[in-house]
Amino acid sequence: MSDKKDYGQYFQSTYEPDGNRKRPKTAEDVGYSQQEGKRRGKEEVMVVNFDPIPDELKCLGRERTYCIVTFGCQMNEHDSETIAGILEDMGYTATTNEREADVVLYNTCAIRENAEDRVFGHLGALKAVKLERPDMILGVCGCMSQDESVVNRILTTYQHVDLIFGTHNIHRLPILLRDAYYSKEMVVEVWAKEGDVIENMPKIREGGLKAWVNIIYGCDKFCTYCIVPYTRGKERSRLPEDVIAEVRELARQGYQEITLLGQNVNAYGKDLEDRDYLFGDLMDDISKIDIPRIRFTTSHPRDFDDHLVEVLAKGGNLVEHIHLPVQSGNTEVLRKMSRKYSREEYLELVDKIKRAIPNAVLTTDIIVGFPGETEEQFQDTLSLMEEVRYDSAYTFIYSPRHGTPAEGMEDDIPEEVKKERLQRLMSVVNRISREKNEALRGEIVEVLVEGESKNNPDVLSGRTRGNKLVHFVGPKDCIGKFVHVKITEPQTWALKGELMTRVEV
Ligand code: SAH
Ligand code: SF4
Ligand code: F3S
Repeated sequence: MSDKKDYGQYFQSTYEPDGNRKRPKTAEDVGYSQQEGKRRGKEEVMVVNFDPIPDELKCLGRERTYCIVTFGCQMNEHDSETIAGILEDMGYTATTNEREADVVLYNTCAIRENAEDRVFGHLGALKAVKLERPDMILGVCGCMSQDESVVNRILTTYQHVDLIFGTHNIHRLPILLRDAYYSKEMVVEVWAKEGDVIENMPKIREGGLKAWVNIIYGCDKFCTYCIVPYTRGKERSRLPEDVIAEVRELARQGYQEITLLGQNVNAYGKDLEDRDYLFGDLMDDISKIDIPRIRFTTSHPRDFDDHLVEVLAKGGNLVEHIHLPVQSGNTEVLRKMSRKYSREEYLELVDKIKRAIPNAVLTTDIIVGFPGETEEQFQDTLSLMEEVRYDSAYTFIYSPRHGTPAEGMEDDIPEEVKKERLQRLMSVVNRISREKNEALRGEIVEVLVEGESKNNPDVLSGRTRGNKLVHFVGPKDCIGKFVHVKITEPQTWALKGELMTRVEV
């Protein structure tokens, strides 16, 4: 693994060349420009090993606690596991109380305005705590910190924040934290351009049962409404040998389920110029590892090739759940979203998947109220729901995002109309979920038992291969094991059933 790249060319530091710290006032002062994030660099992505944490930083966290509050998708959840790994290697111990922790980090999401509002709410609420305990470190990381307007807002309005770092700067955390302790000014480090692939970062995974594994970072799709390509940089695949080694190690440690992660997992391998190896090849290789369940999320319909369908159809430990975001059922809206497929092409793909994998559980994401969406176009989304019959769907109201192409389109659908469309969509989605679950009445399903149910400790909960939540009464020693459950009471969002047998997997 080589580490020859000159970081200086895109490293933005809050230090002057003479080593003195300058006070950043705007995002530009720290060298950040969102425009930069749009340009896709030609330079090679390097695979870089995480540097061991220097000894003098390893004791920074002694007798200190940390609390990470995570907003957003699985990618962020998994990044939080890495951040926790780094902090624990520095001697910090975890706490869930953000008002008492010595280091509080908000790992933020920028996907919709309400996600950002929640973070600003937390930041405001922590001001009083910071005044009482000035020694605590308050940091903001994740996708919001990649947005220059957010960085500016924090610099001007939330001056009690000590540290801001971007999604490409996680491996720099030990140094940034040290700086935050020794500086009176806010420490800001956000690399606008995509970073490299950093291997071997420490991770604290929760639970010991299910694990996330990154396979590809970033996104090159540039859907016109979406902030992710700017917050996560260009598509960078991890090397297959590194992914496979990590999955093997997790199998050895006793994990039962792996979810391969990427904003667009089926773009995997396209950027690996020295080899002809795509997502289908990776799935095929991973299926040979002795781990009971392999999932992946999220897939983009555009890159879902025949080889992948063929590999998934083999089943085995490759479970039959496919999350295939469609966003809209109308070709013209899809064109304006730059999704690069038509309604018909999407339906053809669904058909192909259903033919190859008859028991496939399909789920999706939908946006309502995209600029210019007419009632008729919205009805095409409703009719697509009826045609595909998804097991479930995440439904969202369009939220204009700073710096995206759709921000320039007139956000012309009145709020009440957006809300009303969301309601109508949800009622169709929920009815179909209920009908699909009803079809499982009397069936015996394999469940990986995750723990006690949230509302009732006498009830255990787990998930089917298709990712459906199942509740049943059973002995606690089922937790962490596979069992067979007979479905007796299907509901819209969960299935209730009776324990039949343990399963040897
Ligand atoms: N990479 C994934 C999506 C990640 S974001 C994919 O392409 O499928 C998760 C979902 O958030 C998207 O599928 C989309 O439905 C929704 N979303 C993204 N940007 C949005 C916006 N500006 N307003 C509303 N919903 C949005
Ligand atoms: Fe966003 Fe589209 Fe990339 Fe998904 S594929 S992360 S929706 S730009
Ligand atoms: Fe949010 Fe960033 Fe994920 S914007 S959805 S946390 S990639």
